[in-house]
Amino acid sequence: MSVNWVLPFDEKLYPEGCKIVEPEAYVKMHESTVKDYKNFWAGIAKELSWYRPWKEILDESNPPFYKWFVGGELNACYLCVDRHAKGSRKDKVALIWEGEPYANGMPKEVRKFTYGDLYTEVNKVAYMLRNTYGLKRGDMIGIYMPMIPELPIVMLAASRIGVAFTVVFSGFGEESITERMNDAEAKLIVTADGGWRAGKIIQLKKIVDEVLEKAASVKGVLVVKRVDCEIDMVQPRDRWYHEELAKVPEGAYVEPERMKSEDPIYVLYTSGTTGKPKGQVHDTGGYMTILHATMNWVFDVNEEDIYWCTADIGWVTGHSYLAYGPLLEGMTEVMYEGSPSYPEPDRWASIIERHKVSVLYTSPTAIRSWMKFGDEFVNRHDTSSVRLMHSVGEPINPEAFKWFYRTVGRNRVVFGSTWWMTETGGIMISHIPGKAIVPMKPGTNGLPILGIDADVFDENGNPQKIGDRGYLVIKQPWPGMPLTIYKNPGRYKEVYFSKFLGSYYAGDYAVKDRDGYFWILGRADEVIKVAGHGLGTYELESAIVNHSDVAEAAVVGVPDDIKGEVPVAFVILKVGNEPSDELRRDINSIVRDKIGHIASLKEVYFVTRLPKTRSGKIMRRVIKAVLTDKPVGNLATLEDEASIDEVKKAYSELRQELSRKPT
Ligand code: WT7
Repeated sequence: MSVNWVLPFDEKLYPEGCKIVEPEAYVKMHESTVKDYKNFWAGIAKELSWYRPWKEILDESNPPFYKWFVGGELNACYLCVDRHAKGSRKDKVALIWEGEPYANGMPKEVRKFTYGDLYTEVNKVAYMLRNTYGLKRGDMIGIYMPMIPELPIVMLAASRIGVAFTVVFSGFGEESITERMNDAEAKLIVTADGGWRAGKIIQLKKIVDEVLEKAASVKGVLVVKRVDCEIDMVQPRDRWYHEELAKVPEGAYVEPERMKSEDPIYVLYTSGTTGKPKGQVHDTGGYMTILHATMNWVFDVNEEDIYWCTADIGWVTGHSYLAYGPLLEGMTEVMYEGSPSYPEPDRWASIIERHKVSVLYTSPTAIRSWMKFGDEFVNRHDTSSVRLMHSVGEPINPEAFKWFYRTVGRNRVVFGSTWWMTETGGIMISHIPGKAIVPMKPGTNGLPILGIDADVFDENGNPQKIGDRGYLVIKQPWPGMPLTIYKNPGRYKEVYFSKFLGSYYAGDYAVKDRDGYFWILGRADEVIKVAGHGLGTYELESAIVNHSDVAEAAVVGVPDDIKGEVPVAFVILKVGNEPSDELRRDINSIVRDKIGHIASLKEVYFVTRLPKTRSGKIMRRVIKAVLTDKPVGNLATLEDEASIDEVKKAYSELRQELSRKPT
């Protein structure tokens, strides 16, 4: 997204009641952890329970394919559930789930699971996955579910028996799921009949039925009954979750698999500008270690906390900081099913009040939409239980930061913007109140967490000057980093480790200020971040060219007040077709069907040529510059200058047309 505020380097905030560390002191402490990073991380990993200790902290024999804690054995489900259920937290509430439907000023459903309940559930589900489906260690399943408790339960149960999974966000459409199921070669899809979103039913099983025609590896569909809508069940391929669970013997126990530290826990797909989505493969031992560290440092876990991460489990934030992280630490967490503004824009504030949320993890796009509705909806509720807040997903503009800090945070809590990515597995740059906190600055990400060696490089791979924009890199391996891109190690090396040899290239622009704080400015590549979720131009363009009248398409992101960025498309029609509003609507509905609603195009422009390099690559940055009234920059590689005029013309014509239409 475009970031055009001036960095307010000097505006520092001191949250009440916090022992503040000056940046220089933090930098010193940080330096020592980076210098001896292997032993530093081994010290953290030791705090988990291992069936067998590792022989080697880090296997660096085949860079950039690093393996952490080689020789060690552990189980993620055991760590997140058994340890607590077998100990003093047996009757402690692990999960408070709130469904979306609402009546008479109250949610219609709230379900609570103690650690003891979770233990019973994950054992039953693990038993069923093993016995009904014959799933075993090393297998892969797909998960396409709404935000219901069965979702994390299925993930944990899979981890229990050593089955890896790939979760597809329930807002995604048929094409996105098919592509992921085929790449992952999933054997089973776990889904639901449908889900609730803003008072409406989202049909999920119906979409899965379409996927099944094109995903040969998938042999079975397990369906949770959530909304009780009409669906087709094809026997014996499709089975109801509750019917299968009813067959599991009372008190079933499934011994957790002793997983090798470097065994994959899951694959999660990220999108890009070219090629298919990239399956990021996360390990078990390193991943649990980064979660354990960051839960404690960033979220400053206390036994009494009520923790709420508002992210959907379909994204990495929900994997790391909803499904695993908080349970790893034995916390009580809230999970909410539906829309933030259903039935009214105060829903989130009411959840905070009713469940007494003390730690809140949310996103800039959510904050901006709260801000749009105004203070009133926050003020209807008592948010004084909140003591710590963080945001994630995209840069937070200082205005939104200050508004949230003033309203929900009541000018006194710690509030940060944690930087990380699907690839990093866990938070990398953040304020860490649980360990040491430097003064806050509205809009910053803060300093790298302990043990993480981040920097900002110039184009040549040298450290960039303070205050100048450069590329964000991580210079040493860290626990939680990907093992590889699923079935494509060459691409892993190429995308992340070829721009700057020896360093991980994040693909983000960043600035470091004179206190050493990082300010992540947005993507340097062409991933569009819609409401904090990365969409690849490639996937959107491929969906558009599905339309029989379309020859070619280019998609770019343009700034949006609430969502940060939204996609617009430039479309070349096949000869003999005329631009029309109907065609615009058709193209948009293809995108929504195939990729999902989140990808809705803000605008469709018709052109006869596109700016391309001589080698035929679409120059999206040029299109974007035109749309945002910025200079188009270096055009040395441009094939055909006149294409820019076409883009400009299409843009201004549509603007004029829209301004003529009554609103
Ligand atoms: C990209 C990764 C990891 C959580 C969800 C997103 C952007 C993420 C911040 C932040 C500025 C941020 C970056 C990054 N990003 N957090 N606090 N400030 N930018 O995961 O979909 O893999 O996206 O999100 O551009 O590269 P993701």
